[in-house]
Amino acid sequence: MEIIYTDQDRPTIEEIIDLYLSAGLKRPVDDSTRIERMYANSNLILTARLNGQLIGIARSLTDFGFCCYLSDLAVRKEFQSCGIGKQLVAKTKEIVGNQCMVLLLAAANAIEYYPKIGMDKVDNGFIIKRSI
Ligand SMILES: CC(C)(COP(=O)(O)OP(=O)(O)OC[C@H]1O[C@@H](n2cnc3c(N)ncnc32)[C@H](O)[C@@H]1OP(=O)(O)O)[C@@H](O)C(=O)NCCC(=O)NCCS
Repeated sequence: MEIIYTDQDRPTIEEIIDLYLSAGLKRPVDDSTRIERMYANSNLILTARLNGQLIGIARSLTDFGFCCYLSDLAVRKEFQSCGIGKQLVAKTKEIVGNQCMVLLLAAANAIEYYPKIGMDKVDNGFIIKRSI
């Protein structure tokens, strides 16, 4: 069975919330209007589907010239550790190209993950945290 990766897919909010719940990604899944806004204002969304089912997603905001912020990376629980997350990050980088960095904040449970897929840890990052 072939996993289809594409940046041309716009999953429904229900599919996205279902995926986030399955993956265990902490996002405001009880506020579908907010999730809708998050997606409406993202300009690089990569999906992975198997037999039509949404099994992975990478949501980024990028200028395609300098930077790309990869905000949400999630893979359905039963498909984790099969290389899908790695593919989604690699394809994100491939699309934004050499002039763009790909930057993200790791969730506590994924801090050990990103070095495994070849990403460098930065020590010069700063943040103004959201309050809700
Ligand atoms: C983290 C996540 C995106 C990784 O995607 P994935 O498809 O499961 O991972 P991959 O198959 O690409 O993993 C590549 C390697 O990293 C390992 N790995 C997977 N998840 C890991 C984690 N959370 N921490 C450390 N290593 C991890 C895999 O076992 C694999 O190792 P191997 O090559 O030695 O077999 C996915 O597990 C997920 O959705 N987790 C829950 C949500 C989440 O935490 N998202 C990230 C928020 S920053």
